Amino acid sequence: MATLLDGKKTSSDIRIEIAEKVKIIKSKGGKIPHLAAILVGNDGASETYVSNKVKDCEQVGFTSTLKRFDNSVTEAELLKEVEAINNDPDIDGLIVQLPIPDHISVQKVTDMIKPEKDVDGFHPVNVGRMAKSLPSYISATPFGIMQLIERYKIETSGKHCVVIGRSDIVGSPMSILLSRKAYPGNCTVTLCHSRTKDIKAMTLQADIIIAALGIPEFLTGDMVREGAVVIDVGITRVEDSSKKSGFSLRGDVKFDEVAPKCSFITPVPGGVGPMTRASLLMNTLLAAEKSIYK
Ligand code: GUN
Repeated sequence: MATLLDGKKTSSDIRIEIAEKVKIIKSKGGKIPHLAAILVGNDGASETYVSNKVKDCEQVGFTSTLKRFDNSVTEAELLKEVEAINNDPDIDGLIVQLPIPDHISVQKVTDMIKPEKDVDGFHPVNVGRMAKSLPSYISATPFGIMQLIERYKIETSGKHCVVIGRSDIVGSPMSILLSRKAYPGNCTVTLCHSRTKDIKAMTLQADIIIAALGIPEFLTGDMVREGAVVIDVGITRVEDSSKKSGFSLRGDVKFDEVAPKCSFITPVPGGVGPMTRASLLMNTLLAAEKSIYK
């Protein structure tokens, strides 16, 4: 049976490590890491995500600032706020919670954030630096997955990794990170997507599978070979009348079929999800320490 890659425990370890570092900074009278978040409108999911990010900051001892705007905010007003935060020496990291209303260009807003404060790792400068193996902020989910691989000491060198899904925030960066000359990395990577002819033929050759396509229980037992490492990035809500909330979370992996064949596997929930939250804290600490851009 597979070893569970426990994101809940690992992310809790990371939070403890960060809180310890903040204590040391405080005891030396240093500057407390400070994250700013911009939230536009009142989308329920975004409200939850941002309030969790603020809570996470409090928990580890960071300072946080939340700037809220109505849906009616103009692009110019939003860009002006980004600029003001870029120039505020007390703020180390800035995120603009997505989605934002259609009348505002995501690209313009993302590009306006100073790369040095872009703790989401969405700015083209950070994506480009990552691709060139230069120090960069890595966006939260890929960073969290890399941490899980590293902390469980999973061998990656020379392995065949199949990534399913080519999104800008997960699939594409994972394919780059795992092919870099580094640890974790040095994999031979196959990136599968909606136009791939025979995904099963690919996954059956994989030592490591990253399932990040957003289709519940897509990866079934017959698609995985014995001993594979399986990372499940999916978190789709499906109706479930047995739950108080009325829904439960499903990953992209049919866990009951796949787990018995694996060497390591992430559960859903409790795998990649909590690691994503911890990653933003790691990036904010890196920003405060000026570790990426010296
Ligand atoms: N919306 C959903 N996920 C994210 C994220 O990681 N960062 C931002 N800024 N918005 C999001």
